[in-house]
Amino acid sequence: MPVNEEGEEGEACGLLLTVPGFVSSYCGCFRAVRPRASLGKTRMATGASQATFLCGAVVGSGLALAAAYAYARAARAVSGGSKKQDTLGPPPADIRFPLTLVGGVDRLYDHGGPTPFRFNKEVVEVFDDMVSRSVPLYSEAIDFLLYLVARYYQAGSNLYDLGCSTGTTLDSIARSMPPAEYKLRIIGVDEAKHMVDECRAKLGWASQDHSVNVVCGDICEVPIDDASVCILNYTLQFVPYTKRDALLHKIYAGLQDDGILFLSEKIRSSDPAMQETCVWAYEDFKYRRGYSKEYIARKKDALDNVLVPYSEAQLCDALKAAGFDHVQTCVKWNCFVSIIAQKRGAPSSNRNPVPTPAFDSWFDAEALYLKTLSEGTAKNYDRIVQARRVQFYEKGNLSRDSLLEYEGIVAQIQSIAPGPSTQARRLVVDQAVVEIGRETDLSNGDLRTWKVCAAALKPWRKGPWNIYGVHIDAEWRSDLKWDRLLPHVPKLTGKVVCDLGCGNGYFMYRMLAQKPRCVLGIDPNFHAWMEFQAFQHFTSPEADVLKFEIMRGENMDLFPATFDVVFCLGVLYHTPDPVGMLRKIRGSLKRKGVLVVDCESIPGDEDVALFPKKKYTNMKGVYFVPTQSTLVNWLRRSGFINIHVFYAEPLSPEEQRVTEWAPVHTSLQNSLHPTDETKTIEGYPRPLRIYVRAERGGSA
Ligand SMILES: C[S@@+](CC[C@H](N)C(=O)[O-])C[C@H]1O[C@@H](n2cnc3c(N)ncnc32)[C@H](O)[C@@H]1O
Repeated sequence: MPVNEEGEEGEACGLLLTVPGFVSSYCGCFRAVRPRASLGKTRMATGASQATFLCGAVVGSGLALAAAYAYARAARAVSGGSKKQDTLGPPPADIRFPLTLVGGVDRLYDHGGPTPFRFNKEVVEVFDDMVSRSVPLYSEAIDFLLYLVARYYQAGSNLYDLGCSTGTTLDSIARSMPPAEYKLRIIGVDEAKHMVDECRAKLGWASQDHSVNVVCGDICEVPIDDASVCILNYTLQFVPYTKRDALLHKIYAGLQDDGILFLSEKIRSSDPAMQETCVWAYEDFKYRRGYSKEYIARKKDALDNVLVPYSEAQLCDALKAAGFDHVQTCVKWNCFVSIIAQKRGAPSSNRNPVPTPAFDSWFDAEALYLKTLSEGTAKNYDRIVQARRVQFYEKGNLSRDSLLEYEGIVAQIQSIAPGPSTQARRLVVDQAVVEIGRETDLSNGDLRTWKVCAAALKPWRKGPWNIYGVHIDAEWRSDLKWDRLLPHVPKLTGKVVCDLGCGNGYFMYRMLAQKPRCVLGIDPNFHAWMEFQAFQHFTSPEADVLKFEIMRGENMDLFPATFDVVFCLGVLYHTPDPVGMLRKIRGSLKRKGVLVVDCESIPGDEDVALFPKKKYTNMKGVYFVPTQSTLVNWLRRSGFINIHVFYAEPLSPEEQRVTEWAPVHTSLQNSLHPTDETKTIEGYPRPLRIYVRAERGGSA
């Protein structure tokens, strides 16, 4: 029976129907008890609700009595206040303070619920029950956080809870920190108005002990200053991908030296082979806590593309990239994790990962083709191998954990064995959707592994693909670009071709239809390289003429007089030195070589280029966006001749979109100005895409 903090007893009338080992349905209602600050709300102690559910979950097992006893005791101890604790003995170490949970029992998705999921009024009304019942170790993570606040909070500094919801965490912190020792300056931030109302009500009592300010606003926008503790619990996963890095950087900048961020998130498994097991176990966890299978399935659908989890390695990488010096997982249950990240203040000397043996040997084996590609690449063999290693290990911004995670994906992909028939490696490249094999070519187990790996490789930027029946609708409809380019591209049969900025290699596969001698893709993006390696595993030897170097356009001088045709699609505006890069590209072409360019550009006839302050169409790393005439001028002054512009149109949202396979939030529809379609979200002119063909000219 739950007891409130003054020791008064409230009544829990819960109907628990159990079959051995499982809760089949739960219908709980709690008689209102008077909360400390007379909030006039129904409230319950987490210990009590867990006791009820867990007792149900273990009925019939030898552990049942012990677990039931422990939780019942915990429930009474934590919710009973100090008077009762004396007679019960010390509370169990895992739950020291009751969480103040308000609102109703969550049955939202039994029959309806907001789809897509959002934090609207009906969610807020059951939110406390929802979060404490669906997040494993929810109260334990908060309990652990109390240690950190006690240790790291600095007098006079700010303590932020970003995405504070109904204020459960802040309430627990405020209650547990004696005001005589810790006079906290608490700042809660949430963008959902109803959450903020609940939070203010829940923390109404706390301003007698601490300073409390609950702000309704976007955590990506509010300033963060002078903080010794920041909390970001289960909220980053709802922040658009493109804003996450900036948010973590801002938190880092707003922390005092030695300050900490406590970050809790749902995560996806690092090992794709385990993802299904983790999901299955988590769904059973929810089932055992009284959620119906219909609820679980419906909510999962509603959260699709709304809650977009990182893996643990990605989280740690993002924290390190933001500047955090010490990053440590402190609480973990399957697909839920809490991490402490500390700012030391002084720059860390070496964040580069140590090379991993599996990638190393693969790399070396893959380099031999350079000796036969051209005289220039044979001569530069060692420098090229060195340049790819530098990009891969030092500039790729990947931690060793991430590399190991990717190695896991590689190992899974390599374990897939397409059947012996040639059909099993069948490659169709002369149509919009590049196809590899069919669903029936893989065993059930391999197909399952492939589906898990394909999902782990999201976001898919370039496509579309159909690989063993898995249709991958990528962010870019690259087929539309290819159809526009094709009539203007020289015949590729027997040619040595370079696709600079090749992404996962979609265009390289389309080129295969013309039987080139070799197509070398160049791209610094590790993730794109991984996707390419998956295709290569399935298609070789037919696609053996396709090669990929992890490098930048700035490395094009390593391939002197090598290519008959270079494609440079969507790259030039990403370099701070576009003319320098064009000159290197020209040097990489053979004497009658041809360059095909696709460049983002701004409208107008003037000889100028836009130089965005920070981002352009939400993209980082954009330097110069030229007018058409400036682009032509760049080419001319780099030595190209016969320059011919054959396409200049605005980019359409049909060509670049958010899809199930690319839940990216950077796509065009999110990058234009909300009220003026002729402008980008930053207020700059909306981009055109310009395609140009030019010839090397001059002597070799
Ligand atoms: C899953 S809840 C977080 C739960 C809470 N931190 C806890 O531990 O119980 C996510 C919360 O973040 C808020 N939120 C999501 N994105 C936000 C943003 N960009 N700015 C402010 N609040 C945001 C939502 O309104 C919601 O209350």
